[in-house]
Amino acid sequence: MRIGFIGCGWIGNEHMKRVSKIEGVEISCICDIDGDKAKIACEKYGGKPYTDYRKMLDEVEIDACYICVPPFAHKDQEILCIEKNIPFFVEKPVHIDLEKAKEIAEKIEERKLITCVGYQDRYQRIIEYIKPFFKENNLGFFTGWWVNGIPQAWWWRKKELSGGQIVEQTTHIFDMARYLVGEPVEVFAVKRKGIVKMEGYNIEDASGVSIYFENGVFGIIFSGCFMKNAGKAGLDFYFSDKIIEYQERRSVKINYGNKIEEIYETEDLIMAEDKSFIEAIKKKDPSLIKSSYKDGVKTLAFTIAANKSMESGKVEKVRV
Ligand SMILES: NC(=O)c1ccc[n+]([C@@H]2O[C@H](COP(=O)([O-])OP(=O)(O)OC[C@H]3O[C@@H](n4cnc5c(N)ncnc54)[C@H](O)[C@@H]3O)[C@@H](O)[C@H]2O)c1
Repeated sequence: MRIGFIGCGWIGNEHMKRVSKIEGVEISCICDIDGDKAKIACEKYGGKPYTDYRKMLDEVEIDACYICVPPFAHKDQEILCIEKNIPFFVEKPVHIDLEKAKEIAEKIEERKLITCVGYQDRYQRIIEYIKPFFKENNLGFFTGWWVNGIPQAWWWRKKELSGGQIVEQTTHIFDMARYLVGEPVEVFAVKRKGIVKMEGYNIEDASGVSIYFENGVFGIIFSGCFMKNAGKAGLDFYFSDKIIEYQERRSVKINYGNKIEEIYETEDLIMAEDKSFIEAIKKKDPSLIKSSYKDGVKTLAFTIAANKSMESGKVEKVRV
């Protein structure tokens, strides 16, 4: 199977490292607008380097493509893959513009193309273990959080480029809430500014989003990028017979009152999602993928509704 890559920054390289180790797979071409990055990646993982993805997709025949560019850099990469019937893996968030993402999702549906979004947390064994508990209909509410410092990527601190912390980073927690709890209907968000002092920084230092789900459950998700050293990410779920504390990509602790069960995650989650994507293409079986493009659009709509509420100061509907 011949794979192409668009974007070889931090996460692009993480995928290349793993994809290049999967049997029967070769990296045929790698594109980055920074030609040196593409060249260095090709020296490590093979393939021909490009600085223009349009040229790359015209010249090289590939069986799948990875799109690992920042939120603002989604232009027509997905559309070109769809037109050429190339299944693609795209990193979260699927786009910065919800309407454009919806158009892409429609075109994917028309072609029945296999797609995968990098919500790696869905591939955890600990999540598969706790998922059945959510069918019992006895969850009252939950709290979630992603609180730490500011990531290094230069584009991250500019809202018009990244979408802000909720859209770019806490999206993993919003997505997990959808995956486990159900579909959100309405959100109400508040924000805090004034702690972080940094040139060019224009996102919120902290936010809290109340969410109402169609099954009656409610939750609150906190985001913060104002911390200097410490940080945490995860969710706590309050059921009638237990509390589940999930520490993102680390562990779940299930407190039944009279006993506590603790399980740790050991899986390489990026490898797990990469293998699922490749296997889904080989077997022509999209059910192996835990987050399709269409599903990724729903999480984008959820986080964009939260951003909208932060601006309007009103309850906003989640519209997909
Ligand atoms: N799933 C995860 O856990 C996870 C982790 C990190 C990042 N991400 C997501 O991956 C995306 C990329 O993040 P990153 O940390 O790798 O960013 P990065 O800045 O390290 O890398 C992005 C790369 O894309 C390149 N690029 C930009 N526009 C391009 C274009 N038009 N054609 C080709 N290359 C282009 C840049 O030159 C850069 O090398 C973001 O959406 C981010 O949210 C996901």
